[in-house]
Amino acid sequence: MERTLSIIKPDGVAKGLIGEVARRFEKTGIRIAAMKMIHMTKKQAQGFYAVHRERPFFDSVTDFMSSGPCVVMVLEGDNVIARNRELMGATNPEDAAEGTIRKDFATDIEKNVVHGSDAPETAAFEIGYFFNGLEIVG
Ligand code: CMP
Repeated sequence: MERTLSIIKPDGVAKGLIGEVARRFEKTGIRIAAMKMIHMTKKQAQGFYAVHRERPFFDSVTDFMSSGPCVVMVLEGDNVIARNRELMGATNPEDAAEGTIRKDFATDIEKNVVHGSDAPETAAFEIGYFFNGLEIVG
């Protein structure tokens, strides 16, 4: 059993996609173990994306992620990191496969509706960034 962090980004929340994204997880047997709405400050977004701090898109992505509410979720299931990434599709919606969340709803590489952890170590950091143990229902 594995856990990963999912974020419905400000564009996804603004487009009314909370239910649609959660439905796609639940439909494929992924369990939502925690879920809440947050509105990050710029500093909180910078902390979350700290691994990208040297990248040219860092300022823009942290502006965007602090521009409105996000829904953060802990997802649980066998191989859920990879399964979530498959449901999301490629980071750039132009490269995303048919039927993926990003292909269906994303605007561009920044406004790409969802975030998902890419490895067990990043999942552990990202889950701990938003949730304490009491908030995750085992
Ligand atoms: P995410 O998986 O949340 O991780 C970092 C985010 O930065 C990424 O999704 C994109 O939304 C955003 N981003 C913007 N420009 C780029 C880029 N050129 N390469 C990768 N990520 C980018």
